[in-house]
Amino acid sequence: MAPTVERKNINLAPLKAANVPIFFIVGGPGSGKGTQCDKIVAKYGLTHLSSGDLLRDEVKSGSPRGAQLTAIMESGALVPLEVVLDLVKEAMLKAIEKGSKGFLIDGYPREVVQGQQFESEIQEAKLVLFFDVAEDTLVKRLLHRAQTSGRADDNIDTIKKRLHTFVTSTQPVVDYYEKKGKLVRINAEGSVDDIFGVVVANLDKVTSKI
Ligand code: AP5
Ligand code: MG
Repeated sequence: MAPTVERKNINLAPLKAANVPIFFIVGGPGSGKGTQCDKIVAKYGLTHLSSGDLLRDEVKSGSPRGAQLTAIMESGALVPLEVVLDLVKEAMLKAIEKGSKGFLIDGYPREVVQGQQFESEIQEAKLVLFFDVAEDTLVKRLLHRAQTSGRADDNIDTIKKRLHTFVTSTQPVVDYYEKKGKLVRINAEGSVDDIFGVVVANLDKVTSKI
């Protein structure tokens, strides 16, 4: 049975009132979500929130909530939806207080129900950017990054499990938003700058008012 998760009562009113644009960023492990988000932030000034980074920060904080997460992340599985969503909400509220003009939610949703719950509790995403990369490229990138990242999940056994989780849980997210007409599928095998060019072409269509 899943462990009981500590929930907090989070007042979302300021976030809803701000009504700033929200972009979901999805893609397999090592597809370049973080890399492209850094470049998007530099150009558009949106707030980048990586669910993986928020989870790793929570683990580092030594909180009871963090203690439950390490084993799950090292197994390449998904942590419980409520934990991720609460962390994302808290980080969004902090950013709104500081005047954020929009969000890149990187690594979320990883299963269809995560997207549905976020959109019913907070707000609909404007677009979903999907970085499409072949599995062998993902493995190569992550093994290369493993030499310096210090991430507990950058080893071949966990990488394989992360890929499996992506195919079984997150691929349906791609199909779900494609059917809704919100998905932007980006071939992300090329150079970082070439991929960013495609990202910019798509964001420019919807961010003129930001
Ligand atoms: P998370 O931290 O999100 O990891 P991930 O999805 O596996 O993705 P990465 O962060 O490893 O890769 P990335 O796509 O950001 O690529 P990057 O830009 O770094 O999640 C970790 C774990 O947390 C999950 O397994 C799960 O347990 C949990 N979790 C997170 N979110 C969750 C959620 N919503 N629900 C439940 N659980 C959740 O690039 C990778 C490497 O490639 C870098 O070295 C980079 O320099 C290089 N690179 C990037 N682009 C290129 C390019 N175009 N060409 C060559 N190299 C490139
Ligand atoms: Mg990342």
